[in-house]
Amino acid sequence: AEPWPLYSSSEVAKHKTAEKGIWVSYKEGVYDITKFIENHPGGKDKIMLAAGKAIDPFWRIYQQHTGRGNAVELLESMRIGDLSDPPPADDGTCSCPYNKDPDRHPALIFHNNKPCNAELPAELMVDSWLTPNSVWFIRHHHPVPVIDPEQWRLSVGGIGTKCVTLSLEDLKSRFLKREVVATLQCGGNRRSELDQIEKTSGIPWGFGAMSTARFGGVYLREVLQHCAGLSHENVEAFEVQHVIFKSLDGMEASIPVEKALSPYGDVLLAYEMNGETLNMEHGAPVRAIVPGVVGVRNVKWLGEIIASREEARGPWQRGIAYKGFSPMVKDLKGIDIEKIPSMQDLPIQSAIVTPKAGSTVELDDVEVKGFAWSGGGRGIVRVDVSIDEGNTWVTADLLDGKDQPYNRAWAWTFWEASVTSQKTWNISGVRQLAKSQCCHCMCFFAGLIRY
Ligand code: HEM
Repeated sequence: AEPWPLYSSSEVAKHKTAEKGIWVSYKEGVYDITKFIENHPGGKDKIMLAAGKAIDPFWRIYQQHTGRGNAVELLESMRIGDLSDPPPADDGTCSCPYNKDPDRHPALIFHNNKPCNAELPAELMVDSWLTPNSVWFIRHHHPVPVIDPEQWRLSVGGIGTKCVTLSLEDLKSRFLKREVVATLQCGGNRRSELDQIEKTSGIPWGFGAMSTARFGGVYLREVLQHCAGLSHENVEAFEVQHVIFKSLDGMEASIPVEKALSPYGDVLLAYEMNGETLNMEHGAPVRAIVPGVVGVRNVKWLGEIIASREEARGPWQRGIAYKGFSPMVKDLKGIDIEKIPSMQDLPIQSAIVTPKAGSTVELDDVEVKGFAWSGGGRGIVRVDVSIDEGNTWVTADLLDGKDQPYNRAWAWTFWEASVTSQKTWNISGVRQLAKSQCCHCMCFFAGLIRY
């Protein structure tokens, strides 16, 4: 093959604007990423930090690029040359920002380790309605921050409030302890099923990027109203629209102020998880629990809460990964991403957990088990299962989770159905469907599992 043209790092440094083109280097390669900037799943602001520079030090923090995903492949498709003065190869002596991450349960399915992204295995999913803390799914964007709970302070302020600073002891002693059972789900859950139709960017999750716990803590609305003085009058007068959560790991996200202040929203500042002190992995000392809303808004390691007219900044709120597009959209040319609302409540879904996809069963009667869940607190009222491509359906029995309060059904509902075949058949090769109905509407989501 023809050798690549050679460029020096000072030549790369001249290319950091749209007019001149945006170049970066990685190891020995030089890349023109101008057209990719808008499509970057981690957001435009983040990738622009590396414009005209080597991306190696940035990818040492965001190691998901060099893990199982397609970032290296994507970058290679933008190669324009070789670097004449490449940086010395990483000899592994530089201190890794992930060294202090906690030990993790080997049953988890790890997609990345640095940052950790791991899902709950299907085998453990419907064993217990409350997922044991040790196998709860993990979705991190950075190293787990090391925080001394004694020194930790939460600042609560923003427009229409009086700014206050609270310790963990203040939260525990000045507010009533509340409990909420909630299922949290990563916005990318089940992406591997989408990938079977067309390849997407991001972690190829199965359906285990969701888990359920009983969280204990204080209501956000009580802290905002009784301590920071944010009233409904102030919200109107100052046009407050969002409540921003800033994490001590550097990420931020926001929720609409209506959800934050609603007496039915049950948004929690949580310091307990399944009766135990919240652990480092899941956001200690205090994390946000926003029931019914996409996982990324349930910000861990809270440091600051801000009432604001604008939603949070950054890729986890305004980036393309948390916005929805028509299936026909192949690139984002001409689309004003800012105008597309950020994901909040998640839609209804159901999944068959056993028999496991790809397994073989040779029985007349098969016990099919799974879960159904809807965002927005919409309870599950029915689940149907089909073993013949949707021609006939068996209504499942609803089990744990079926009696949650109307419109505040924050946790999943387990279900079970017995399906009988006329002849002995082999599940492998048969396509099965589970669909669920929530209490708000008659629309169904069909969970399509291939066997
Ligand atoms: C996410 C590609 C540069 C920060 C991603 C993802 C891809 C990607 C494919 C989705 C990964 C996944 O979730 O599995 C690229 C390419 C780059 C580049 C081709 C070439 C220049 C950068 C730089 C930074 C960065 C320089 C930081 C300064 C991020 C962040 C995410 C991300 C923060 C989101 C991670 C998360 O949600 O956990 N990028 N990236 N990227 N990228 Fe990049």
